[in-house]
Amino acid sequence: MSESRAEWGKRIECMFSGIVPWYDRLNRILSLRRDVGWRRALVQGLALSASPGVLDLAAGTLDVALELAGRFPHGRIVAVDFSLAMLRQGQAKITDRPQPVPLSLIAADAYALPFPDNQFDAVTMAFGIRNLLDRAAALMEIQRVLAPGGQLAILEFVPPQTGYFLLVYRFYLYHLLPWLGRLLSPRGFAYRYLAESIGAFPSASEFSRELQDTGFEQVRIQALTGGVAYLFYGRK
Ligand SMILES: C[S@@+](CC[C@H](N)C(=O)[O-])C[C@H]1O[C@@H](n2cnc3c(N)ncnc32)[C@H](O)[C@@H]1O
Repeated sequence: MSESRAEWGKRIECMFSGIVPWYDRLNRILSLRRDVGWRRALVQGLALSASPGVLDLAAGTLDVALELAGRFPHGRIVAVDFSLAMLRQGQAKITDRPQPVPLSLIAADAYALPFPDNQFDAVTMAFGIRNLLDRAAALMEIQRVLAPGGQLAILEFVPPQTGYFLLVYRFYLYHLLPWLGRLLSPRGFAYRYLAESIGAFPSASEFSRELQDTGFEQVRIQALTGGVAYLFYGRK
C-alpha cells in the first residue's frame, strides 16, 4: 500500500529533525559551498519593493530567510517549516546577530499555511518542493497566499540529464554522496534519500510545466553550476 501524504510528511519531518546537528555543515561540504551562492541567486532573482512581505517555505535552518532579511531589512519575512528542530537550529543564528532581524518563525505544514489569502509579495522555497508528496496541492496553497502578481521562487536539484559533466555528477550523486553522508553523519540514510529524491524529481522542463499547470505565469528557469541545481520563477 502506498504511503499517505500524512505518513510521508511524518517520516520526512522525523528525518530532517534527526539530521539537524549535521545539516548545515554537510550542505557546505557536499556542495563544495555552492549552496551559499545558489540561495543568494534565488533571492537576487526576485524583483521586489524595499519592504515586501515574503514567505520562505520549508525554511529549515533559515539560510534563505536570513538572506531575505539581509536584502530586505524593512520587509516582513516569515519562515515556515514543519520541523521545530530545524527552526530552532536556525533561531540560534538569529540570536548571534548584533542587529535585530525582521524575521518571524512559524511551525506549520506547507499544505495548510496559517495565513489568509493574497498575503505575500513573494514565496521562496529552497530544496523543499522535492520533499512534498503532493506537489500540485502545495503549489495551489502557495498560489492562495500569494498576492495577485506575487512571485514564486524555487531552488531545487533536478535529476542529471545528459552530457559529460552530468555523467560525473551522476556518479557523485548516486555513489559518492551517499557514501560521504554515511561517513560524515550518523544518519547516512538521509543522504541516500537525498540522492533518490533528486532522481525521482521531474526534469527542469517538466517541473516548469507543472508550475504552469497550477496557474503560474511568466515561468522562467535558470540552470546553476552546469545544471546541478535550478532556479524556477513564476507569478500568480
Ligand atoms: C532540504 S531542507 C531545506 C531547508 C532550507 N530551505 C535550506 O535551503 O536549507 C527541506 C525542509 O523542508 C521541510 N519540509 C518538508 N516537508 C514539509 C512540509 N510538508 N511542510 C513544511 N515543511 C516541510 C523539512 O522539515 C526541511 O526543513
